[in-house]
Amino acid sequence: MSLAAPVAQDVADMLAGWLPTQRWFAGKDRPVDGVRLLSDTPLPIEQPRVHHLVVGVDQGGQHTPYQVPLSLHEHPQERLEHVRVGELWEPGDASPHHVYDALHDKDATAVLLTALAAKADIESLRFHVEEGARLPLGQPSIVLTVEQSNTSLVYGEAALLKVFRRLAAGVNPDIEVHDALTRARSPYVAALLGWIDGSWTDQDTGRPVSGSLAMLQRFLRTATDGWALATTSVRDLYAEADLHADEVGGDFAGEARRLGAATAQVHAVMRRTLPHAQLGPAELSRLATGMRQRLDAAAELVPDLRPYAAGLGTAYDGVAELDRPVPGQRVHGDLHLGQVVRTVLGWRLLDFEGEPEKPLAERVVLDSPLRDVAGMLRSFDYAAHSLLVTDHPDDPQIAYRASEWAERNRAAFCAGYASVAARDPREEALLLRAYETDKAVYETVYEWRNRPGWLGIPLAALDRLAA
Ligand SMILES: Nc1ncnc2c1ncn2[C@@H]1O[C@H](COP(=O)(O)OP(=O)(O)O)[C@@H](O)[C@H]1O
Ligand SMILES: [Mg+2]
Repeated sequence: MSLAAPVAQDVADMLAGWLPTQRWFAGKDRPVDGVRLLSDTPLPIEQPRVHHLVVGVDQGGQHTPYQVPLSLHEHPQERLEHVRVGELWEPGDASPHHVYDALHDKDATAVLLTALAAKADIESLRFHVEEGARLPLGQPSIVLTVEQSNTSLVYGEAALLKVFRRLAAGVNPDIEVHDALTRARSPYVAALLGWIDGSWTDQDTGRPVSGSLAMLQRFLRTATDGWALATTSVRDLYAEADLHADEVGGDFAGEARRLGAATAQVHAVMRRTLPHAQLGPAELSRLATGMRQRLDAAAELVPDLRPYAAGLGTAYDGVAELDRPVPGQRVHGDLHLGQVVRTVLGWRLLDFEGEPEKPLAERVVLDSPLRDVAGMLRSFDYAAHSLLVTDHPDDPQIAYRASEWAERNRAAFCAGYASVAARDPREEALLLRAYETDKAVYETVYEWRNRPGWLGIPLAALDRLAA
């Protein structure tokens, strides 16, 4: 049974205090004015009781839906103390229910896997299984603790359920792209096993909408994060004061090259299996205008950027004036070293959601795959220079070597990409420069707001790009 109206109000009030304390809550910069239940689906399990909720968070008149499954226990659960939401009384209760974040409660999460296996329809929720997928039924779940904007559960080291927290109407591109790549049997992603979607009431229109809630994919047991691998190589280089990037044991260029090749393979399958089209003058002009607007807004905010603004703008003019169409396709949209993992079998690309800040409609717009190449090139630059900021400020010798590492691995990535794709991305210098500039401009805004000490990293890149 759904929660009775007064109880639903109590839950909403309880969540208004709890949501802003959660890492994945995106609205921490503004107060929460109210929370409403937009859907409430009791799951078929008795102990604990589990309510799958979609709640609408009101922040200054802006409404955002979040997914919040809750488990209700009759007794306090010490093991769940860290995800306690509060306590709840229902009419006639002699004692309260103890309410927890159900995703951390393995007694509650088992039902998600059984519902998936049964391809169940449970009121507002629909569970799907990818053809031929085997699910690790009966395995308990644990929550992945890495920093992220969603909540991911791993069942028995076999499957990972990524539960989207902030919701949007429509199909999440992570599911759409993984589905296409899995059907094409691409070995460069973690295969899709299933997904959950559901419906809730749109807070602005009062009408029902549906959208993706969660994605089940194969868990890559031997995965090591690309960022961790890359920065370990950089640390090795710094430790070997007299050696160059190509001479130290931790040289990364072979990995960078294989990562470039894997990226090109993924792009090729995405082009084959998902929408694609040539980007003509209208699209290119729109692309350049968008880049120009982001640059202007950033220069407004970040004074150090202003000296470069005019020079950088020319890169964008060139895009608008291109006299030939550019191949457009679906892209990753947020590719960097933290979105790729190295397994014993090679590189795998993760997280095709696109830039989470962008509305869904913008994240599926056809674009040049060079956007992803540029994202990865910027990431190599960051990996090389981030330790300088934290461990070696003002050491010109190490700074020189950091740039050498970045150059070596950026080149290796492009060479690997070129070994698979028809063209070397470096031959598309004008477009690649524009995408890299756009990304570095975004980084200056991010650093200005969050880590002013790091601003030097994107500014040095823009200095080079403006030249
Ligand atoms: N299928 C998987 N197998 C193993 N680890 C994974 C898998 N998917 C994600 N991870 C780990 O979780 C992290 C976050 O995953 P990601 O899909 O990027 O989530 P988010 O959208 O929250 O960034 C990854 O960097 C990786 O370390
Ligand atoms: Mg990610």
